[in-house]
Amino acid sequence: KTDFKVNEDSKNQQLEQFREDPKDQFMTTDQGVRINHTDDSLKAGSRGPTLLEDFHFREKMTHLDHESIPERVVHARGSGAHGYFQPYESMAEFTKAKFLSNPSIKTPVFVRFSTVVGSRGSADTVRDARGFAVKFYTEEGNYDLVGNNIPVFFIQDAIKFPDLVHSIKPEPDSEMPQASAAHDTFWDFASLMPESTHMLMWVLSDRAIPRSFRMMEGFGVHTFRFINEAGKARFVKFHWRPTIGAHSLVWDEAQKLGGKDPDWLRRDLWEAIEMGNYPEFELSVQLVDEEDEFKFDFDLLDATKLIPEELVPLKPIGRMVLNRNPNNFFAETEQVAFHPGNLVPGIDVTNDPLLQGRLFSYVDTQLNRFNSANFTEVPINRPVCPVHNHNGAGFMKMTIGKGKVNYWPNSLGNGCPMMAPESAGGYVHHQEKVEGHKIRARSESFSDHYSQATLFWNSLTEPEKKHLVEAAHFELGKVETIAVRERQLANFYKVDPEFARRVAAGIGIEVPKDLEVISTGNYEENDASKQMKKGAS
Ligand code: HEM
Repeated sequence: KTDFKVNEDSKNQQLEQFREDPKDQFMTTDQGVRINHTDDSLKAGSRGPTLLEDFHFREKMTHLDHESIPERVVHARGSGAHGYFQPYESMAEFTKAKFLSNPSIKTPVFVRFSTVVGSRGSADTVRDARGFAVKFYTEEGNYDLVGNNIPVFFIQDAIKFPDLVHSIKPEPDSEMPQASAAHDTFWDFASLMPESTHMLMWVLSDRAIPRSFRMMEGFGVHTFRFINEAGKARFVKFHWRPTIGAHSLVWDEAQKLGGKDPDWLRRDLWEAIEMGNYPEFELSVQLVDEEDEFKFDFDLLDATKLIPEELVPLKPIGRMVLNRNPNNFFAETEQVAFHPGNLVPGIDVTNDPLLQGRLFSYVDTQLNRFNSANFTEVPINRPVCPVHNHNGAGFMKMTIGKGKVNYWPNSLGNGCPMMAPESAGGYVHHQEKVEGHKIRARSESFSDHYSQATLFWNSLTEPEKKHLVEAAHFELGKVETIAVRERQLANFYKVDPEFARRVAAGIGIEVPKDLEVISTGNYEENDASKQMKKGAS
């Protein structure tokens, strides 16, 4: 019904129905039968074989045997927290999203911070981008802002994502190296994909070794859309900023912590919340009128570009506070399922070809992770507002439908569930006009891969530059294939020749001034490269 309201505690209250508190309770089987002894299996004689009829033993063992599900194919290692989001003022001028319409509305959220490359058991402090995913349980349904702590991405088109992930994950023959980009296959791919250069600069910078999840920025990365009640649309970029500022480790600390306390970031988040030092993040937006879509020297649909704040300043719109740790890691942090396509009225996607591919990938992978379309019904993923539709059965259906009618239209269902008339707030996709020939291609407007990488380099202080150069020494220094190092240096040379020379000096290679960038997938060594190789050997 349209009168549904949320408050800060709505999700907590909903989860309460599913929580178990075994205090002062007898231990039982899953069927509720009391257990009188759990330390020995049922045997034929005290030294005899275990009996198949021991239902308690079988049940206990079966549970352990089935305790794991596939980890996320990326972002496998993460930490979650509950909290709320509150806007500073009504954003109704820009979006009809109700959770942004009124400063008195506190919307419950669940946030999951993550690393990208490593497996579930990998160390927290590795050099990597960090995921920053927020699920808003709004009165109009779940809205997911599935972002990262770096404002741009490696690739422009989702079709390259499987290649990117294969190149950065451990190599398929040896399953090495773990959780690190410091290997031939990643740099081979990256050096052949100049569009990755901008994000590589961020990944080599101190941004990729955050001191704490509480001290990390977050970005929606893509350009999205806000649409107001009158149907007027604007482009929007999202930014999260920690109120205690962004802080990083230095590489030496990060490496030592990786050994001494691989849970460094997870522990910090958990303990801060337990101690009442609640992490806070301010949400800001950059808004661009549709008429201004082409006024920039980059394409708003290109996820390897940010909108410089000098061109479009940030508008702070609200604050998120994380004030409660999950009760159960698996039930909440592991089972939470984010999806950039979980949108509410007033927010829509754009034609960014990276975002468009994400819209397919998340549910697809979650069907693999949960083996059922019913993962939306597990407690952490349930909307707090009512859910009614005719979606059917399947593994682990949790809700119990009523009656014989599960199709639309019908005349036998007593009008339940109803269809919302368009005026009653149903989701309507933004009516963008789209026309064109089907073509497997990339827009010319996506072709500048270096200007913003240079902008980033120039924005750094000298100590930050030094850290970045040293990170490149570490990463590229582990690359065994000299041609790969050279090719990456060629890309860095386009960012800034002095930067490339400083990197080269640490890995035993010289960068000729007249270096040509090799940007095709079919890399052929040019004369400059051959010359460098000779020098290196
Ligand atoms: C997780 C795909 C780009 C942020 C994932 C997962 C997949 C995926 C398959 C695992 C989801 C799960 O098992 O629940 C893709 C594809 C991309 C892409 C195909 C590009 C074509 C991005 C970008 C961002 C991002 C650009 C940031 C803006 C995240 C985050 C998670 C994630 C934060 C972890 C969510 C969680 O904590 O559960 N992605 N991704 N991804 N992705 Fe992406």
